[in-house]
Amino acid sequence: MKTALSVHNLTKMFGDFTAVNGVSFDVEDGKFFSILGPSGCGKTTLLRMIAGFFEPTGGQIKIREKDMAGVEPNRRPVNLVFQHLALFPMMNVYENVAFGLRRRHVSDSDINKKVTSMLERVGLPEHAKKKISQLSGGQKQRIAIARCLVLDPSVLLLDEPLGALDAKLREYMKVELKKLQSDVGTTFVYITHDQSEAMVMSDYVAVMNSGQFEQIDTPQNLYNNPHSSFVAQFVGNNNKLTVDLSSKSSGVYTALYKDGQKYEVSGDFSLEEGNEFDMFVRPEAFVINAPESAKGLNTIKCEVKEILFDGGNSQLLVIPEGTVEELVVALPQNKLYDSISRKDRIRISWNPTASVCFRKEEFKIYDDA
Ligand SMILES: Nc1ncnc2c1ncn2[C@@H]1O[C@H](COP(=O)(O)OP(=O)(O)OP(=O)(O)O)[C@@H](O)[C@H]1O
Ligand SMILES: [Mg+2]
Repeated sequence: MKTALSVHNLTKMFGDFTAVNGVSFDVEDGKFFSILGPSGCGKTTLLRMIAGFFEPTGGQIKIREKDMAGVEPNRRPVNLVFQHLALFPMMNVYENVAFGLRRRHVSDSDINKKVTSMLERVGLPEHAKKKISQLSGGQKQRIAIARCLVLDPSVLLLDEPLGALDAKLREYMKVELKKLQSDVGTTFVYITHDQSEAMVMSDYVAVMNSGQFEQIDTPQNLYNNPHSSFVAQFVGNNNKLTVDLSSKSSGVYTALYKDGQKYEVSGDFSLEEGNEFDMFVRPEAFVINAPESAKGLNTIKCEVKEILFDGGNSQLLVIPEGTVEELVVALPQNKLYDSISRKDRIRISWNPTASVCFRKEEFKIYDDA
């Protein structure tokens, strides 16, 4: 596989503030690569350096093996789709898509072929004559992407392109974008602070925190094997239980929880011993009222505080006995648990391999939420 984009030790400082701090990654040709991180972590700054709008303070960017140092933005084989789409309102849809090709002095007949085929690809061939103001939000989005894709970039950079859409349309567009990318085969580098967007669409996701990459992995690995407390909390929902950890045998640890009980943690990792560890257990890792005969599970007794009904995403809020901590437990809508009500005492169990531990770490996940 060829490398479409290769970034090495890239850094950007604004005065004495480091916005991007020694970031390195490679993106193979034709992949969908996302950069996921909270507001202010440096995503846009990183993308603007790749596009050539910001001069890096240090490090190297190569696109298709070619060093981009000193190459002007308009000479780079990349295009950037902005959050605010920057479509031209005075031009119709066709002319918006044709714009870049005209600037490149492509012949009218070639423009016609390319724009027509591009509009078909994004599913809007019958809208060519419409004004931008006559399009829906999702249609505008597709035109903004079509306008860049028609220029056949080596890499398409997308800066939170779905940010302006309402929740329902975002859900729809993330599937559409994924399909579009696999149809056209262009390499996408996509930035977002929405973990579900990144997970659904991407081949690989880099999780970014305070200017640095914490982990680059497949969505499945990020979810199942987070390498840091930050990744465990930022990717998907998670419960955090503060425990004291001691080693039991190779790969098996004992976690003493605030309820006075000991729980087992095991897996393919080595941990230190000590106080104040965060143990993470996913809401759907819990089994509610598992049969007493089930062997080898950890079990916490708790009281149901709230039932948060949300169809297939319904959850229980529970308080483990002897604590004031709240845990979130996925509540499958398979009729087995319909009789559970508030203040019920239930047991929740999980497999010792279904949790991860990290030394306690404090950080803010949401800057401006
Ligand atoms: N031109 C600039 N001058 C000084 N500081 C800047 C500049 N641009 C960005 N920053 C700072 O760099 C940090 C990273 O900004 P950036 O826009 O890259 O974040 P982001 O991850 O894209 O956030 P968001 O998700 O909110 O778009 C922020 O603290 C921001 O204030
Ligand atoms: Mg940004």
